[in-house]
Amino acid sequence: MAVSVDGRITTRKRERFPLGSEHDRRLMDELRSRADAVIVGAGTVRHDGYPILLRYDDLRESRSARGRPPHPVNVVLSRCLDLPVKSRFFASDATRKIVFTTHSAPAARVKRFQRVAEVIVLPGRSLAPGRVLAELRARGLKRCLLEGGGEVHFAFAKAGVVAEIYVTLTPRLIGGKRAPSLLDGEGFLWKEHTRLSLVTLRRVGDEVFLHYRVVRPEIHVANEPAAGDAGPGPPRRGARGAEREGDTAPSLPPRAGRRQDPPASRRDVRDRRARPGRGRPP
Ligand SMILES: NC(=O)c1ccc[n+]([C@@H]2O[C@H](COP(=O)([O-])OP(=O)(O)OC[C@H]3O[C@@H](n4cnc5c(N)ncnc54)[C@H](OP(=O)(O)O)[C@@H]3O)[C@@H](O)[C@H]2O)c1
Repeated sequence: MAVSVDGRITTRKRERFPLGSEHDRRLMDELRSRADAVIVGAGTVRHDGYPILLRYDDLRESRSARGRPPHPVNVVLSRCLDLPVKSRFFASDATRKIVFTTHSAPAARVKRFQRVAEVIVLPGRSLAPGRVLAELRARGLKRCLLEGGGEVHFAFAKAGVVAEIYVTLTPRLIGGKRAPSLLDGEGFLWKEHTRLSLVTLRRVGDEVFLHYRVVRPEIHVANEPAAGDAGPGPPRRGARGAEREGDTAPSLPPRAGRRQDPPASRRDVRDRRARPGRGRPP
């Protein structure tokens, strides 16, 4: 995910523009090329309106050589399906699309979107990220990359299903209370915040490429391997998103799959509640 130095992912008017350099775009495509599915929020589709595809021929070809479709499946999350069904995002037949929604979406809209995508209606007022990942996993989509925006990122981080984060710090200041940032939603309190461990840091020109892994103390309680154990080495080049072989969890983060199966024991859940903070005061 490309961000300004002050953490914004776009402007208060949600303009569509390339925040990162060509180098960042290449790195982004490399992360996409490893993903089975790319997940975005309805806000990103409303404001950008383009399908998420691999731009580089060599990356598409290398996917095809591995027997995979040229582009990752595009997944959209929306509570009520107030989305532009006629946008280029849905008009494109370059890749398969899956739309997750809730029972708040009117039946007529569900029907309309079923003509352009697979529509999965889940219970609840909001989509539970763990459930979304489980549904994707059931469809063989194990490696997921979260690509925005800030609201969806927060929902997944809060659900604890993010494994890794790739951030490209771009040399700009954007600001604005209403400009989306890397993580929006209601935000964490100190005791709840997500702690990260830096995996790699690289500078190219005026951009800084950061790769973090999410620290999960509760995983130690469960006698499971710590986040990062047996994980992939640092990406050859890093931009944003996330993926681990075998995980359904996205990378803005995810290590989601691992948290869901096997399910956590009651004791793990209790310990997690007792120690919700993933960080300690300095
Ligand atoms: N710099 C970058 O690399 C980058 C990357 C991606 C996006 N962006 C920018 O980010 C902006 C959009 O970000 P945003 O934060 O406004 O929107 P967003 O996170 O893309 O989408 C928010 C919407 O997603 C749906 N949603 C989120 N969590 C949900 C949940 N748990 N269950 C059900 N639905 C859920 C809701 O849709 P409904 O309202 O339909 O319920 C919500 O309004 C765009 O302008 C885009 O250009 C930048």
